[in-house]
Amino acid sequence: MRLPPARGVLSAWLNETLRHSPPSIPAAVPAPPVPDVRLRAWEDEDFQLALWCCYELHYRGFEDVDEDWEWHPAVLGLRGPLERQWLTALRGLAGEHTSVAAPAVPAALRELTSRGGGPDLAGYLARTASRDQFAEFLGHRSVYQLKEADPHSFGIPRLDGPAKAALVEIQADEYGGGRAERMHSTLFRAAMRWLELDDSYGSYVPAVPAVTLAVSNLMSFFALHRRWTGALLGHLAALEMTSTSPNRLYAAGARRLGASARERWYFDEHVEADAVHEQIAAHDLCGRYAADHPGAAQDVLFGAACCLALDDVVAGYLLSCWQTGRSSLLPVAEPRIAV
Ligand SMILES: [Fe+2]
Ligand SMILES: [Fe+2]
Repeated sequence: MRLPPARGVLSAWLNETLRHSPPSIPAAVPAPPVPDVRLRAWEDEDFQLALWCCYELHYRGFEDVDEDWEWHPAVLGLRGPLERQWLTALRGLAGEHTSVAAPAVPAALRELTSRGGGPDLAGYLARTASRDQFAEFLGHRSVYQLKEADPHSFGIPRLDGPAKAALVEIQADEYGGGRAERMHSTLFRAAMRWLELDDSYGSYVPAVPAVTLAVSNLMSFFALHRRWTGALLGHLAALEMTSTSPNRLYAAGARRLGASARERWYFDEHVEADAVHEQIAAHDLCGRYAADHPGAAQDVLFGAACCLALDDVVAGYLLSCWQTGRSSLLPVAEPRIAV
């Protein structure tokens, strides 16, 4: 993918700076100051896009950006202040949690993920959404799903023993158990092609709003900082533990709108696989990690709480757009791009 169009001074600075080759930009060239948006940083278009672009240098990068920018001090000089505000915003979003002892982590995760009460996006997609709305939903999800599991793989080299084995077991399934055609990102592409969406990596990044980029930026923040490994694992557990029921409803919606078994395989696969993954994630991964790392239980629960809170923000945003007859995508790109 190419660098997405800027949405403000921060992403414009990145767009301008990253188009040069790094040696021609001295490290002293400062990034613009990051405005104070921490209270609702997940809604700030420029903030989220700038952070997303900084992080993407560690994944696939951009066709029009030299690979040597990945660790350049000028980029890190912008990323650092962004991340400090992002963390403050996330702490506000996730709310306060009482600490629990390591053996109580799986039960605490279960309690957090079974609270419910958030906007019923999955129910709407199952029963009400039009084909265009379902297509928009897939467009939003594609920003993460086309690199599904990649952020959590950064946790693997940071673990040892049973927790490492548990994470690898989950990730192996996400990557298709050695078969490219069964990778979850590949199954997601089939769902996208059902609705004639562009399934190329990053195709919807220019069209999705800040709240959607925030979902990926949350994972990447935890993934790229070893200090936040516990939160990364808690985030994964929350994903896995809240997956089967919504995916059953997504599958029902896709069936209602005419998707074939192959086209809705992605959703059906997650109903089955995540029923297993949620057990591994809660007990073998997070429970074991918390037992082996005194004080980590708090981080595990923080990561899970951030995941759940941001999911609710996105669901509320999509439903409010659709219930007022608006598109949930930005007007910068065609929402549906024929393959
Ligand atoms: Fe998956
Ligand atoms: Fe999974």
